[in-house]
Amino acid sequence: MSTESNSDQHAYLVTGGAGFIGCNFLRYLLETEPDAKVVNLDLLTYAGSLSNLQDLPDTGRYTFVQGDITDADLVAELFEKHGITRVIHFAAESHVDRSITGPAAFIQTNIIGTFTLLEAARKAWAGREDDCRFLHVSTDEVYGTLAPNDPPFSETTAYAPNSPYSASKAASDHLVRAYLKTYKLPVVTTNCSNNYGPYQYPEKLIPLMILNALTGKNLPIYGDGLQIRDWLYVMDHCSGIHAALSRGRIGETYNIGGLNEEANINIVHLICDILDELRPKTGGGSYREQITHVTDRPGHDRRYAIDAEKICTELGWAPAESFQTGIRKTVEWYLDNQIWVNSVMSENYDEWISLNYADRKEGMDQ
Ligand code: NAD
Ligand code: TYD
Repeated sequence: MSTESNSDQHAYLVTGGAGFIGCNFLRYLLETEPDAKVVNLDLLTYAGSLSNLQDLPDTGRYTFVQGDITDADLVAELFEKHGITRVIHFAAESHVDRSITGPAAFIQTNIIGTFTLLEAARKAWAGREDDCRFLHVSTDEVYGTLAPNDPPFSETTAYAPNSPYSASKAASDHLVRAYLKTYKLPVVTTNCSNNYGPYQYPEKLIPLMILNALTGKNLPIYGDGLQIRDWLYVMDHCSGIHAALSRGRIGETYNIGGLNEEANINIVHLICDILDELRPKTGGGSYREQITHVTDRPGHDRRYAIDAEKICTELGWAPAESFQTGIRKTVEWYLDNQIWVNSVMSENYDEWISLNYADRKEGMDQ
């Protein structure tokens, strides 16, 4: 994997840098580009936390701004004040279950927020597009769902989003494309598969299962648990984004996947087995005994899989982690970072858990 440094002194606007992928990317960027200046614009919603950034090196090249990407005046001011030439756009409402119970925030942040950033970039970069880049971070969920024998998603797969989350991300992808075609804005889009790793908020499958297991709670599998995702270790995603940013062709999209298709139930079994080894249950027995099948998610996509051939061959990217190595690192990280866990599992967290799981009946009949 290449970790080349850009010698030009770029000024980055990273949105959503206090969230899961954004905070990992900030570490990667500050290390990989020793001359880059970085502004992190994050609203600090329930999903964003400054505790994700506590160990960032104190380089003097990094500025945090708490604010909303839909605030056009603030965004324009940041472009102007910091001379922004690179945008890496992570900020989003990112959880499918929340988009089912409350879609409005997804429309606002994911669509209006992306529009606001595109407009600011268009105005600030007019006449000097060649020196600038806007990298939009998106998801494979825009392509909808795959049947068991379908080929994996490629960059030419038609969009068919099924959840309010994926529909809002699809809309943002279309806006990004339109700004390229209409205004020649220098954009690159990446669509990646499910990420996992350190600092992921414990509403998503992997951290939720690790922490529920350790606290003696049920491990809620939606439906039969045979839904498939393609798991990508977060640092591999960060290197893919950086490759797309530094070597990707303007106007292209690049799919990034972990080459790790796995059914949810197998993921949870593996987590239980690693925990059985690293932190055996005090009363004996296996964490697998806590697995409970619950009512399925409405509109649940059955399978996602990514064909990452384009980024691999064109940009020389490859994931460094296999699922076996990545999941072990991840479980160890959650075991070793109890202070972080306590800091993010606040009152809001319990509120969400009771809202999301209250109506889910045990058993697989829907
Ligand atoms: P996350 O939910 O962990 O973090 C999102 C961050 O955005 C938070 O820090 C939050 O405070 C911030 N934010 C939310 N609304 C904002 C607003 N209006 N203004 C400014 N900041 C705001 O998300 P993540 O998992 O890190 O995902 C990052 C990006 O990657 C998203 O665009 C998501 O769609 C995409 N993505 C994620 C995955 C995944 O598996 N996590 C997979 C594919 C694509
Ligand atoms: P999630 O982490 O929410 O990501 P996404 O919906 O974006 O793929 O869920 C991953 C898979 O795990 C998905 O098929 C839903 C399933 N799932 C459960 O079975 N139980 C849970 O408690 C959660 C949060 C997810």
